Amino acid sequence: MFDHFNLLAPIYETVIQPKYPERLSELLDLSPELNLLDIGGGTGRITQFFADSVKQVVVADTSLKMLQKTQDKRGLEAINAGSELLPFQNGSFDRILMVDALHHVYDQTITARELWRALKPGGKIIIEEPDIDKFSVKLIALAEKIALMRSHFLSAEQIQELFVRLTGNTTIVKQDHYVWIIIKKDQ
Ligand SMILES: C[S@@+](CC[C@H](N)C(=O)[O-])C[C@H]1O[C@@H](n2cnc3c(N)ncnc32)[C@H](O)[C@@H]1O
Repeated sequence: MFDHFNLLAPIYETVIQPKYPERLSELLDLSPELNLLDIGGGTGRITQFFADSVKQVVVADTSLKMLQKTQDKRGLEAINAGSELLPFQNGSFDRILMVDALHHVYDQTITARELWRALKPGGKIIIEEPDIDKFSVKLIALAEKIALMRSHFLSAEQIQELFVRLTGNTTIVKQDHYVWIIIKKDQ
């Protein structure tokens, strides 16, 4: 099946430049004994900065071409998998990150369930998305629709709702054109 990200992979980090993600780093609260799953992690653009802060970083993605770029980066393990069916046992990861990918998946409800299943007790999921309530992001959503990218943007509150069915322990943080949804699992 045609995958836009296989086409975009060679130029992805030229168009979207890697930059140390301060806010994510704070929210993830990483330490050397933890493991981290970056789902829809693409080229490893974000998690490359966290490889030295944790025991293990796994980048899972449906695009083989994006993952080839991940494999070039030190300390990242690349796995070809979709967020709707993660090849991990229950409670495998201390931290799960999903940046700019939830609006691209086939099924957001099943994805939320899978992330929750793969999270360890005491662990944390952080989802970063563009804030669809902002006009500029609405334009991006329109452009992605025109490009037939199968994108389906949700508001921060709608994303929170996906997880409220699983836990009450969710928080929303908004800044500039981004939203972060933080989901915690009790011990
Ligand atoms: C906009 S890119 C973001 C990549 C990376 N998180 C970043 O911020 O650089 C979206 C990524 O989600 C991946 N993706 C789309 N649907 C997916 C799914 N169902 N499961 C896993 N990854 C998926 C795409 O292949 C692509 O690499």
